[in-house]
Amino acid sequence: MARRRLPAFVREYLEGGAEDEVTLRRNRNAFERVAFISKTLTDVSRRDLSVEVFGGKLPLPLAIAPTGSSGLFAHRGDLALARAAAAFGIPFIQSTVSTLRLETVAEGAGGRHWMQLYMLKDRAVTEAIVARAAGAGCEALVLTTDTVVFGNREWDRRHYIRPGRLQLSSKLDVLAHPRWMWDVLVPNGVPLFENILEFLPGRNANPVRTRAFLVQQMDPSITFKDIAWLKSIWPRKLVVKGVLDVDDARRLADAGVDGIVVSNHGARQLDGSVSPIEVLPAIAQAVGARLCVMVDGGFRRGTDVVKAIGLGAHLVLLGRATLYGLAAGGEEGAKHALSILREEIDRTLGLLGVTSLSECATRLRQTST
Ligand SMILES: Cc1cc2nc3c(=O)[nH]c(=O)nc-3n(C[C@H](O)[C@H](O)[C@H](O)COP(=O)(O)O)c2cc1C
Repeated sequence: MARRRLPAFVREYLEGGAEDEVTLRRNRNAFERVAFISKTLTDVSRRDLSVEVFGGKLPLPLAIAPTGSSGLFAHRGDLALARAAAAFGIPFIQSTVSTLRLETVAEGAGGRHWMQLYMLKDRAVTEAIVARAAGAGCEALVLTTDTVVFGNREWDRRHYIRPGRLQLSSKLDVLAHPRWMWDVLVPNGVPLFENILEFLPGRNANPVRTRAFLVQQMDPSITFKDIAWLKSIWPRKLVVKGVLDVDDARRLADAGVDGIVVSNHGARQLDGSVSPIEVLPAIAQAVGARLCVMVDGGFRRGTDVVKAIGLGAHLVLLGRATLYGLAAGGEEGAKHALSILREEIDRTLGLLGVTSLSECATRLRQTST
């Protein structure tokens, strides 16, 4: 449904990976190399899908990953995602480059609200975003570290004459999607990066200028010392997203972060990168007892989620899975995506012959095909 409803430039923004999309395929294929060995004749009439995260219980091992420009998928997309997450009692992580202000989402959705952060060169702006997230009651700050240099997303270039300026053929394709135009464009025009509007030069949120601002502001010089600075200005849980290396995970644990997201940014950054699920076991073994290990990339089925928890993750982040739901049916669509996953996780536990996610670790085999 999402594919039918979205114009091509938005559909490819949702689905695309970097360059030849080798990693995009790898993120999915990696799950096929993990196989289940079910127990039989166990009583599975009561199954518990909850997990412990940051000392509290979540009813499902899921959170919604930060995705920029969610307003392109449905009207007030961030709010719809946040409300869907709240309905399931799971965290919603809002992107720095979201199309609604973080305060609007905090007030309009309630629930468990986490904020994603890009470290901008202008530290005063970074600090202001952090202060707003603290003021709005966000429970965790998620620093994304794998986009300090932008990935090569060729689908982006295919649709644009230059940044922010669509090709004629892509514009005509928009006209062929009246339902999307009615939902997304008619209410307020092209969704803008409202969350950072106040920091844009001249408060001009024109997408071309905003993109130029972000490219110029993304700080490629950040290191572990910036983690210490963030810790000094952020009062709650701090998570670092974009970790694939065991030593990095150890250093982050040493630096006192509360969580990491093992992630390759949904295969949108470095093509040829390993998939998170391949490096998860070693990272979980190294730091799983010291911090919350989250993982994302390619999760589309309940079986994928159960495999990741079995391999040592505490929580799985969903990017495209809930975006498909959002694009297909707004808030209800995102809820539907979550309910499909909940049902699949529950069914997987039952078929596996276990009653809780903590038992899954012993029920997996890694295979070569
Ligand atoms: C459309 C889209 C926009 C994204 N925007 C952001 C972002 O603003 N910040 C961020 O940290 N990650 C962003 N990501 C990456 C996601 O947080 C997540 O790592 C990735 O989507 C997980 O892979 P999956 O989509 O296969 O589940 C984005 C991903 C997508 C698909």
